[in-house]
Amino acid sequence: MIRYLDLQRLHASQARWLEAATAALQSGRYLLGDETRLFEQEYAAYIGTKHCIGCGNGLDALTLILRAYIQLGRLHEGDEVIVPAHTFIATPLSVTENRLKPLFVDADPTTMQIDDRLIEQAITPRTRAILLVHLYGTCAYSEHIADLCHRHHLLLIEDNAQAHGCRYESPTSNVKRTGSLGDAAGHSFYPGKNLGAMGDAGCITTDDDELAATVRSLGNYGSSRKYVCDYVGRNSRIDEVQAAVLRRLLPLLDDGNRRRKQIAHYYHTHIDHPLITLPRTDRDSVWHIFPVLCTERDRLQQYLFEKGVETLVHYPIPPHRQRCYAAFATLSLPVSESIAATELSLPCNPAMNDDDVRYVADVVNQFKV
Ligand SMILES: Cc1ncc(COP(=O)(O)O)c(C=O)c1O
Repeated sequence: MIRYLDLQRLHASQARWLEAATAALQSGRYLLGDETRLFEQEYAAYIGTKHCIGCGNGLDALTLILRAYIQLGRLHEGDEVIVPAHTFIATPLSVTENRLKPLFVDADPTTMQIDDRLIEQAITPRTRAILLVHLYGTCAYSEHIADLCHRHHLLLIEDNAQAHGCRYESPTSNVKRTGSLGDAAGHSFYPGKNLGAMGDAGCITTDDDELAATVRSLGNYGSSRKYVCDYVGRNSRIDEVQAAVLRRLLPLLDDGNRRRKQIAHYYHTHIDHPLITLPRTDRDSVWHIFPVLCTERDRLQQYLFEKGVETLVHYPIPPHRQRCYAAFATLSLPVSESIAATELSLPCNPAMNDDDVRYVADVVNQFKV
């Protein structure tokens, strides 16, 4: 069976992991120690921001950013935040957790990212921010979005959970990485991510000194000096073992992303099936997920499973159709609903060898309805 993501195979060489665990153990300091400090410096340098603040996971990263903007008086309860309708549930959860209101904007059927053309008409006098998701590892940013934020005085927050290492080439400036394009970004290091830890972990990147200090304090009980609390905070910190692991995996990230791009290129040049639509390639992508669309999605998934290829669906129920979000159930977001019904994610990751990749493409091409 070709697993969707075989983490055991990916991390078969355990030396780095053992070295990381040993370094953390021997330091005698298991939280807020040198491994965390160094990881934060190294990841900020990699993304291209002034600050990186470690936290418990990707959902916390986004929640803490929004919470910090509330503390700083730049967002207020009830303000609206634009979010893509087609995304993982954590994106809108960070908004509603802060008693802000998500404005779901439908996806573009060709990019599967938020539809730029629909954003402006969604903006109301209470809209204060866009939470932009680089879904599937593909850059969702555009000059148009930057211009909208500028004209409507909106904060731009990136959900970079799936896109570590992805780039945006602006017509006017240098190439930048996603996570450095807006006011702040949340990152997840969930084990299956392109940069994944040995458990939960996340971080926030930003150039804003005040935001960085507030986020750091909020994730540490609202305290920046021991036993002195400025905010009603929470406990959300990265631990030393995860920071040590991530420091040792960060230098391998670009190679892993290159391998994902190679596999995606192979799929693009070898998969040819009248019922299957391949994802577009005109924006940079680190292919965290390789999403194809097929009206016979469930049959294709079953067929591939019988042929020994594990696939996943990202995501079968859009957030506005989740039971927890009954208040949004009457929204009509047809493109997101259609993607939820037809998307299938093929395995695409550095744990695969060339035979695996060839086999996946071949069996997809042989799919008969
Ligand atoms: C787009 C997106 N946002 C947020 C998250 C939340 O990250 P975490 O699982 O680390 O809480 C994830 C990942 O799981 C994600 O894919």
